[in-house]
Amino acid sequence: MPTKDQPFLTDVKELRTRARTSIHTGPVTSTYQGDVKQAIEILQNVLATEIVCVLRYTMNAVAAQGISSDAVKDEFDQHAKEEQGHMRMVAERINQLGGTPNFNPEGLLSRSASEYTVGSNLIEMIKENLIAERIACDHYRELIRYFADKDPTTRVMLEGILVNEEEHANDMHDLLVSHEGKPMLKD
Ligand SMILES: [Fe+2]
Ligand SMILES: [Fe+2]
Repeated sequence: MPTKDQPFLTDVKELRTRARTSIHTGPVTSTYQGDVKQAIEILQNVLATEIVCVLRYTMNAVAAQGISSDAVKDEFDQHAKEEQGHMRMVAERINQLGGTPNFNPEGLLSRSASEYTVGSNLIEMIKENLIAERIACDHYRELIRYFADKDPTTRVMLEGILVNEEEHANDMHDLLVSHEGKPMLKD
């Protein structure tokens, strides 16, 4: 609660003075309430997850074959493009926080939340992608709660990505229904 000595908003003079100190930390100022080191570590895992998604969808778009595979290929291609967008956003955020985005292929899979699974046919591919999207949705919901108001910029970025991952999961579910004729993941 704001008191007489501690106003709700910092006065402009104080803000200006603060902004002039520690300018080497870029956008990370004293009001950043998160743990920058931990935030970067978490985002490195998110980056790895997105890279694995780009690889999996790209591979699937190339390898998909069979009846009505063209529409599915297009969908995989579209998702690969969007995962690449996520990858770039996360890498930019790591950079803004003062880290170096880790694109090293070594250890990529162990840093990633989702797996690189290659289905042997169209249905298997769709199913594996649906599972990967469900993992991503769970992971992002948790991270959004973690960042909360400690780091609103990272949170808002993750919220945007989550919206997209839910659409991806829904797209994969729709494909599965149209190819199998029934909802698959209703237990
Ligand atoms: Fe993604
Ligand atoms: Fe996705």
